Amino acid sequence: MSIPILRTSRARVRTSALSGAGARFMEINSTAAQSHDTADASTANLASKLPEKFPPLTPEARKFLSRLIRVDQAGELGADLIYAGQHFVFNRSMPAVAPLIQHMWDQEIHHHKVFDDLQNKHRVRPSLFSPVWKIAAYGLGVGTALMGKEAAMACTLAVETVIGGHYNNQLRDLVRILDEEVRTSKNGQASEELRALATTVSEFRDDELEHLDTAVENDAEKARPYMLLTETIKNGCRVAVWIAERF
Ligand SMILES: [Fe+2]
Ligand SMILES: [Fe+2]
Repeated sequence: MSIPILRTSRARVRTSALSGAGARFMEINSTAAQSHDTADASTANLASKLPEKFPPLTPEARKFLSRLIRVDQAGELGADLIYAGQHFVFNRSMPAVAPLIQHMWDQEIHHHKVFDDLQNKHRVRPSLFSPVWKIAAYGLGVGTALMGKEAAMACTLAVETVIGGHYNNQLRDLVRILDEEVRTSKNGQASEELRALATTVSEFRDDELEHLDTAVENDAEKARPYMLLTETIKNGCRVAVWIAERF
């Protein structure tokens, strides 16, 4: 089965939650378990398109789905806060860079909201390390922005390299499970929720790769020390993914 490569509109209308990066950090800290009611139609999440009632998932599919939602919610939470931290700094130090950060941040807020909704819908517990992810991500955003625009872009390059690959791995697993469902189900169809999840992951993977392109176009590779910075962040992301999938 093939996964659609979605190219959705990049325009994201801001929500009232975007009054400031510092406010965003505080908001996420205080309302982590709540859905964001301020979202408007432009960020109508894919989760809401899922049918209300599903046929029971196989135990393997249920386990896979829980793990995927847990790690991706943690990752999008982190991405949201990295950009919040960067925006907080650039808004004051280099206002010309802030809109570029804001554009990627808006997309991460959308991703974060979709996975918050999926987490609530499927009653998946969040990563036990969520408080750590929040502090580390915001600190990474602030720290790289203080180093300058190139370092902030190198941070995006490193994060999106790992996350793009992570989403691709998930898509491969989803295709395998969907193929298995089609092969073994009585009606020859895969479950709607897994197909919707594959569409979501595919769309977000495209957004992350767009961020990667943006980072390269905006001098990420001119950051110093480039290798040390990007390899450290990549390894940190890999460790975080490994932990968030399990705990
Ligand atoms: Fe994202
Ligand atoms: Fe991203």
